[in-house]
Amino acid sequence: RTVYLNGNYLPETEARVSIFDRGFLMADGVYEVVSVLDGKLLDFDGHMARLKRSLNELSMKNPLSDEEYLDAHRRLVRDNDITDGLLYLQVTRGNPGDRDFAFPPEDTQPTVVMFTQSKPGLADNAGAAKGIRVVTVEDQRWRRRDIKTVQLLFPSLAKMEAKARGVDDAWLVEDGFVTEGTSNNVYIIKDGKIITRELSSDILHGITRAAVLRYAREAQMAVEERSFTVAEAQAADEAFYTSASGFVTPVVEVDGARLGGGTPGPIATRLREIYLEEAR
Ligand code: PDD
Repeated sequence: RTVYLNGNYLPETEARVSIFDRGFLMADGVYEVVSVLDGKLLDFDGHMARLKRSLNELSMKNPLSDEEYLDAHRRLVRDNDITDGLLYLQVTRGNPGDRDFAFPPEDTQPTVVMFTQSKPGLADNAGAAKGIRVVTVEDQRWRRRDIKTVQLLFPSLAKMEAKARGVDDAWLVEDGFVTEGTSNNVYIIKDGKIITRELSSDILHGITRAAVLRYAREAQMAVEERSFTVAEAQAADEAFYTSASGFVTPVVEVDGARLGGGTPGPIATRLREIYLEEAR
């Protein structure tokens, strides 16, 4: 695989980053994941807009122009023959040459890494056909979840807890209300209405979320942006999650309660079709 590191295209085994890199020592970095279907980048502009916002919130300078990000994405997709897959992009505050809590001098170069993951048939994965099962876990992340940082230890632990409990993912819960999934935004459907948590610093502002809500409203579906409880989720008619890697994926079980008889519901299924049609 050819990867991108600070302006260079290298075989993955030759791409090296310092042990003093702030991303490595302090999780001082941000990232984006863009999906690729039939060689086409999905929602690229939205992901770049969020990247710039994340960088800005952390007072990091944006090392590349929009055109440079796009060129690099296109080149990696081409050089690695990606038909369906993901493009991962990470920017860290770089290598100050030592460990220090204070930010390094202004002229420290950020570290920019990009790589592809080939995922043949990404849009027709089994989870989407069958629906996935989730358990709820207390949300113990920091309070700036609107910034897409590389601090992914808690989501990783929550994912492992879900697996240990025999299901696919965890829904995170704070003060009795669901925030989001380990790496996705979540929705329930009750009496035809799509309910999803309002935007705030409690959740990541999903790029797929924005697109799906727009398509839902265009299709005259009712949308309510508000927090919902675990009990509401368990009593819902349907549920689903959205993310760049999962598009719209039905959820059929929450903490052991089966929704819609345990099979993907009509609205989640329709939204997935619409998203894939529109985004492609
Ligand atoms: N995760 N919420 C969280 C906590 C996420 O990590 C993600 C994305 C989302 C969905 O955002 P978007 O629709 O822009 O992908 C919501 C990516 C896919 C990941 O970490 O792999």
